[in-house]
Amino acid sequence: MKLSVIGCGYLGAVHAASMAELGHEVVGIDVDERKVATLAAAEAPFFEPGFEELLARTLATGRLRFSTDFADAAGSSVHFVCVGTPQKRGEYAADMRYVQGAVESLLGVLEPGDLVVGKSTVPVGTAAGLAELVESKVPGALLAWNPEFLREGFAVEDTLHPDRLVYGLPAGADGDTARALLDEVYATIVERGTPKVESDYATAEMVKTAANSFLATKISFINAMAELCEATGADVKLLADAIGYDDRIGRKFLNAGLGFGGGCLPKDIRAFMARAGELGADQALTFLREVDNINMRRRIRMVELAREVCDGSLLGKRVAVLGAAFKPDSDDIRDSPALNVAAQLQLQGAVVRVTDPAAVENGRRLWPQLDYADTAEEAADRADAVLVLTEWTQYRELDPVTFGKVVRQKRVLDGRNALDRDAWTAAGWTYRALGRRAG
Ligand code: UDX
Repeated sequence: MKLSVIGCGYLGAVHAASMAELGHEVVGIDVDERKVATLAAAEAPFFEPGFEELLARTLATGRLRFSTDFADAAGSSVHFVCVGTPQKRGEYAADMRYVQGAVESLLGVLEPGDLVVGKSTVPVGTAAGLAELVESKVPGALLAWNPEFLREGFAVEDTLHPDRLVYGLPAGADGDTARALLDEVYATIVERGTPKVESDYATAEMVKTAANSFLATKISFINAMAELCEATGADVKLLADAIGYDDRIGRKFLNAGLGFGGGCLPKDIRAFMARAGELGADQALTFLREVDNINMRRRIRMVELAREVCDGSLLGKRVAVLGAAFKPDSDDIRDSPALNVAAQLQLQGAVVRVTDPAAVENGRRLWPQLDYADTAEEAADRADAVLVLTEWTQYRELDPVTFGKVVRQKRVLDGRNALDRDAWTAAGWTYRALGRRAG
């Protein structure tokens, strides 16, 4: 099939290359000339394991190309909308101007029988409005909503092997037409028996925000338990293990620590609350405000803990921050809990040096007020405290004995409950973690 993908950010670039991998002829379109040139040169504009190989492989087949010209979307029968829906400045609501703009631009190239497929995360109700626009301007063209659940760090795997497909379809015969086109696009995935949920637009839009809200709630639940563990001397890691054995609960997403960040969970729960308010149903989501609060409190607690171990004052203390990305295997620093903590420490007078295996370059560009080091050893040189704030394997595997030689004070704060407490304490370190007793 001939497909176009509008928006070549994280979601769109991975989607475009993955669709080419499935055998389709794909054009990825983005207004950002530099991004298009980078992708066309088989370089990934972001860190994502496996993506660059996939990009090179699919470009080499000739089935994948990138362009800044919307006219190149003409001739494709399915057009995926993969542009961003960031949080509006100064508001909780999502900024819909890119989605609206992408669909309006598509109107110029759409032909009867074409299908526009929304993949972006949008406020419930968006798809119905866009479908009306498409159908009124290009009679015979249709719209479907097909949310994406990819996780950074696993984007390629999640796109090629999703755990479910969700189709939000128009009613009646149009729904059958749209379903048939989507089934053709995803034939390889459908044929392997991947569960498929077909619904109206509103349900499909909500699946995404509901899923992200559930994940955020699970993380904040265990972090609330961590607060209680801190008050009682209990151990949140053992608690999570023990409740996680109940398969109704499950152990995944019960890792207590600095909480969630990134480009999705924080903004999605806020946009969901904003949308519920517009719909007169805000009471249904007031609990998400608490989920957000618990999450933000962890960052403050981390700073308090750092002050505590630094004998009550951060002024002039050298603090190493290991991790800048919002999670490991990513260079994404959007709403990064690690950088938030680093900035707070600096504001309280600490001399902070941040390092990360992949995100230092982004940090230097977007958070230039912080000081960066290329290695953990360099960041920790003569440090009074070391904070592990993103659980990269490199940091989990640090040897506490040799690492202890570079610091001034052997104090480690494990913001992600990622280190082997016994090994660090045996090497003479004071070990502190969120939700666990001091070691
Ligand atoms: C998330 C959803 O998982 C994905 O399905 C959706 O499509 C986009 O949003 P992503 O933002 O890539 O994906 O990261 P995720 O792995 O969900 O982690 C989000 C944040 O939660 C990270 O900051 C991570 O460190 C934190 N987290 C995750 C925890 O604090 N504890 C956990 O147990 C799990």
